[in-house]
Amino acid sequence: MSIAVVPGSFDPVTYGHLDIIVRATKAFDFVIVAVLNNRAKNPMFTVEERMKFLQETTASYSNVQVDSFDGLLVDYMKQKNANVIVKGLRAISDFEYELQMAAINRKLAPTIETFFMMTNHQFSFLSSSIVKEVARYNPDEVSDLVPPNVLKELKERFNVKKP
Ligand code: PNS
Repeated sequence: MSIAVVPGSFDPVTYGHLDIIVRATKAFDFVIVAVLNNRAKNPMFTVEERMKFLQETTASYSNVQVDSFDGLLVDYMKQKNANVIVKGLRAISDFEYELQMAAINRKLAPTIETFFMMTNHQFSFLSSSIVKEVARYNPDEVSDLVPPNVLKELKERFNVKKP
């Protein structure tokens, strides 16, 4: 059985992430969406909130599980018996960082493969950081970039009141 892990900060999940997760459900038997518990990076949403957004938006996929992890990704994958890391590539600018990550992960765990999917072109500019930046001033502008549960929470966080 092929178990793929889609790792990330997901702070918060966007339609770009969901596109990769859904495509991974068709390519692999089981997909674990693994949320990095990255307290040091000072995320906007807690790991529980980020997991809840993901659980709500992937609930209709029976072969998806949402989980969190600390420490090295490859150690988490060994615990889960997972053999494939799935990442989305948006642009050439992602390539260098992802090449480095794939190389160190292969050194640490040679039996774990990293698979890349080209992000759907409509999401090539999209990141969680961009979403937060825009939503701070005008959450409605991100309504086509994040699922409704995330949009609702962004609106509450930024407490936007229209004049
Ligand atoms: O969404 P992000 O923040 O780009 O995701 C990055 C992530 C979580 C995939 C990456 O930082 C990661 O795998 N972190 C866990 C620590 C690790 O295993 N690092 C690679 C070897 S140094």
